[in-house]
Amino acid sequence: MDVENANCKIKVSQCADMEVLPIERPLKVDVEITGLDILIQELHRMFSCDHVNVQDVQKVMLGYKSNPKDWSKFAKFDRFRYTRNLVDAGNGAFNIMILCWGAGHASAIHDHADSHCFMKLLSGSLEEVRYEWPENVQPEVVKVLNNNKSRRKCCSESQDLPDSVSELTIDNPDDSCQTESCQCDRCQKRDSDRCQNGREYEEGYDVRDMKVRGRTRMEVNDVCYINDALGLHRVENPSHVDGAVSLHLYCPPFDSCRVFDARTGKPTEVKVTFWSMYGKKIKRVLQANEPADSQQ
Ligand code: SIN
Repeated sequence: MDVENANCKIKVSQCADMEVLPIERPLKVDVEITGLDILIQELHRMFSCDHVNVQDVQKVMLGYKSNPKDWSKFAKFDRFRYTRNLVDAGNGAFNIMILCWGAGHASAIHDHADSHCFMKLLSGSLEEVRYEWPENVQPEVVKVLNNNKSRRKCCSESQDLPDSVSELTIDNPDDSCQTESCQCDRCQKRDSDRCQNGREYEEGYDVRDMKVRGRTRMEVNDVCYINDALGLHRVENPSHVDGAVSLHLYCPPFDSCRVFDARTGKPTEVKVTFWSMYGKKIKRVLQANEPADSQQ
């Protein structure tokens, strides 16, 4: 199964046999979606089935042409950082939200918690920067893909299969040196990297800038898709003057993900929050899966 036919009703790592095949070519759009409410209705219809193709979600999102009249009531900006504004909770199968990016606002490098992420630009311009996973952090989906590969290899060589994903190990080159005081070239380099800029980095996270895989400038109505098998990303509003607004669909919804230090690749688990829900600014920032009535 390739990414286009992957089932976004379920976590990416559960999409059995998925290969890492990014969707690069322009998709032919044969649907016309005449408003944001129609788009949401159509998504509810699609997600009422057991299997929802990634490509079909992309097509309906492309089929909607941005009209600020549809979404301005959800678009709430903050002076200091981008905001996440819940539009629809998708019956538990997906979350649709509108993100508002002031001039120069950006997200941190993050993963997608094994979910599927679709993003459509509604207004302004945004840059998406994709990154490789740090060498020493492997997402669940990559372990599954590696397991699938070794399973195919094992089968063709008639060898025993590992019983489960968790039995696979990820080699870390530093593991071969057992002592703290080791003076081999690699350990000396590691120790000097760790103290760069007078700052000591934590064990296992040397100063090694995260590798950029590519940059895409998004224009109004463009749609992009990412999941953990395709890498990590951050999004930035490059304008010094204008805001930008984007529509995001996450499925299944998640309430925490990992952000990564761009200098070291060190991950930190963070809760994701909403700035407003269903067009109403909330009194305190809500966690993504917290019900709106917990405000009362
Ligand atoms: C988010 O959902 O807050 C992240 C937006 C992004 O950069 O993709």
